[in-house]
Amino acid sequence: MKTLITGAAGFIGSNFVHYLVSERPDWQVSALDVLTYAGNFENIASLVESGKVEFLKIDITDREAIEDLFKSEQFDIVFHFAAESHVDRSILGADAFVKTNVLGTQILIDAARAGKVERFMHISTDEVYGSLDSKGRFSENSPLNPSSAYSASKAGSDLLCLAAFKTHGFPVIVTRCTNNYGPYQFPEKLIPLFITNALEDRELPLYGDGMNVRSWLYVTDHCEALVKLAESGRVGEVYNIGGEEEAEVANLEVTRLILKELGKPEDLIKKVADRPGHDRRYALSCQKIREEVGWQPTISFADGLKRTIDWYLANSDWWKRIKSGEYLEYYKKNYGAREGKY
Ligand code: NAD
Ligand code: TYD
Repeated sequence: MKTLITGAAGFIGSNFVHYLVSERPDWQVSALDVLTYAGNFENIASLVESGKVEFLKIDITDREAIEDLFKSEQFDIVFHFAAESHVDRSILGADAFVKTNVLGTQILIDAARAGKVERFMHISTDEVYGSLDSKGRFSENSPLNPSSAYSASKAGSDLLCLAAFKTHGFPVIVTRCTNNYGPYQFPEKLIPLFITNALEDRELPLYGDGMNVRSWLYVTDHCEALVKLAESGRVGEVYNIGGEEEAEVANLEVTRLILKELGKPEDLIKKVADRPGHDRRYALSCQKIREEVGWQPTISFADGLKRTIDWYLANSDWWKRIKSGEYLEYYKKNYGAREGKY
């Protein structure tokens, strides 16, 4: 099986590359990434240098380069992770989100179709459904109602994939996952930001009242779901992928758990101005994937959070290098306006 992984140097993509090499050692893996601020070659360097994985530095919005790739190599499966992925950055400026997430996905669809791939796994997000109040959960049939340019651009890319299935029989599966956490997550997202700020005795900028709820899934559980769906999911279908009810946790509680595990004081928490358009709660019904492919999460939130904290404790060189340069500029722009000090 020859696979192409886009966004392979990002958080989930790099975990997925490691997962495939260990769980499907007979699959050939090509890792594509243009290495934006969020892409870090170091995440997969050992596998590239040992010859287990081929690395391709290509921009998915470069139509010519993507078409050349699919002409020169025959891929059986594409796992498409490459995206601009951070809601706060999409509020500061949406152009890159539209370009990469919408146009980049269409370019990949066209090239993969011409290259006759057997499966195109489009990795999307529960954020396309919008916000829930305290009750209910979204199923695959819930209407799309995105709140940010990030989630709107992902919803657009989902629809382009499903349209390619209807028009051309393109063998795509769309997956919509809840919030992931684990090793190699860029420290702009809640969990790695708060772990690393706490380790540096900096404030933890909690938006609004801190009672927004996210459903957390440890990243290797997501990886396992994607492989199972690629092997036995139905094309033209959407599948939700989510954590268990115990992993649906308010941000304030996540913050307290991190501080407790690190032995840091709660006065590091600083409530700051809310994110505009902040979705209150996400929760998914995952009956479809459970019944059709027999997948469910294996790692509890308590266990996953402990593993994640241990990883950031053991890899301070990794995140300290990232929290410099462009990162500091972004931090000032995003949190300066919210009165968070840095
Ligand atoms: P990430 O920001 O950590 O990584 C994205 C990767 O894509 C980076 O390595 C970046 O360099 C690469 N990339 C960006 N633009 C590119 C381009 N034009 N060409 C080639 N590569 C490009 O994101 P992530 O958190 O790993 O998310 C991966 C995917 O999973 C995204 O599609 C995201 O929407 C989806 N997703 C993420 C979560 C989550 O909690 N992180 C949850 C559900 C779905
Ligand atoms: P985030 O990790 O950005 O993921 P998403 O917005 O895609 O769910 O944020 C997770 C939750 O944490 C969300 O409710 C916003 C909140 N949050 C904060 O309170 N402070 C922060 O500095 C960040 C980055 C997020």
